[in-house]
Amino acid sequence: MKTPDREFDHAMLREIYEQPNALLRTLRAFTDGTTLRAEVFAPALAALAGRDSMLIAASGSSRHAGLVGEILLEDFAGIPVDVEYASEYIYRSTQTMRSPCFVVLSQSGETADTLEALREAKSRGASTIAITNDASSTMARIADCSLPTQAEIERAVPATKSFTTQLLALNLLALFAARVRGRMTAARIEAHLEQLWRLPALLEAELPRWEERIPELAASLAPMDTYLFLGRGIHFPIAREGALKLKESAYAQAEGYPAGELKHGPNALVGPSAVLVALATKDPDSPDSLLRYGKTLQLLRDMRQQGARVVALASEGDAVLPTLCEQVIFIPRCAEHLAPILEVVPLQMLAYFTAAQRGIDVDSPRNLVKAVVRE
Ligand code: G6P
Repeated sequence: MKTPDREFDHAMLREIYEQPNALLRTLRAFTDGTTLRAEVFAPALAALAGRDSMLIAASGSSRHAGLVGEILLEDFAGIPVDVEYASEYIYRSTQTMRSPCFVVLSQSGETADTLEALREAKSRGASTIAITNDASSTMARIADCSLPTQAEIERAVPATKSFTTQLLALNLLALFAARVRGRMTAARIEAHLEQLWRLPALLEAELPRWEERIPELAASLAPMDTYLFLGRGIHFPIAREGALKLKESAYAQAEGYPAGELKHGPNALVGPSAVLVALATKDPDSPDSLLRYGKTLQLLRDMRQQGARVVALASEGDAVLPTLCEQVIFIPRCAEHLAPILEVVPLQMLAYFTAAQRGIDVDSPRNLVKAVVRE
């Protein structure tokens, strides 16, 4: 697999294109094809032993990956999980979870708030796992278990390949936890891994198609003042990440909400200068996914009656959403728990092209740095 041999105007776009390879490298590091590598996960086994709950702490994009991880770990491994803002964790009572396995997510492994949370968790007796993109980072060194992603150096401040590799690492950790807790057979793990191995090629095929469509979408939304990203279940964190990417990259007023919350406040923002970006993919093999999809369709019908502007991310072949939305971006059909990795990429492109069209130096947006190491 090769990243296209072409000039990219910014590191962010190149890094978006590097994602298939970053995912492949991470899969190779954590698996032997259809089995999870025992030696890589041995420290995770010790960190999970005797722990009945998990607490994930992170900041920014990494926290959104954590919210996806929460659902994967609960659904696959049956472990109750909470996700904290790293900057809030140290102020929480020690009663929140008495003796969890504590996971930090951080592409840099150096973010001051997340590092402080990790040190605090250790002092509270938690076992600790660090998922970082730098195996020699402080978090990777001080946690009991380090599971480094293989995105390689990411230059642009807005996280892209470091984010999708975090999602992949969390998928793999959830499968590992499911296996050791007796929730999945080796055959089911193998079937999940086969699906994960198909992702890099799926993504590689879609990237140029999205790049053809999304600059035009970005231009058509340029006059908007407000972007509301909506998603349910595992798609909600991706709605949040899509909004954060637009904020960081294009300085746009963007928020991510659970789709069902729209009517409880944010709806007041819906008007001619607001656009709803609905994450409305579906997995036909999952009744829960179909339930969420059906509810999202109903919401979009209501929003259409209210005169809202709506664009949607939909599963390839969906014939209903184009009748309800102004524009639809299609995602390859896949199992629902894999959808976040595919869905976030066109949202990264939407942020990138919106920023580029506004003449913003998207690799170094104002007031932001790659890792906030001091408060
Ligand atoms: C900074 C960056 C964000 C990033 C966050 C967490 O605020 O601007 O894009 O998500 O740090 O970084 P980390 O290295 O801990 O993942």
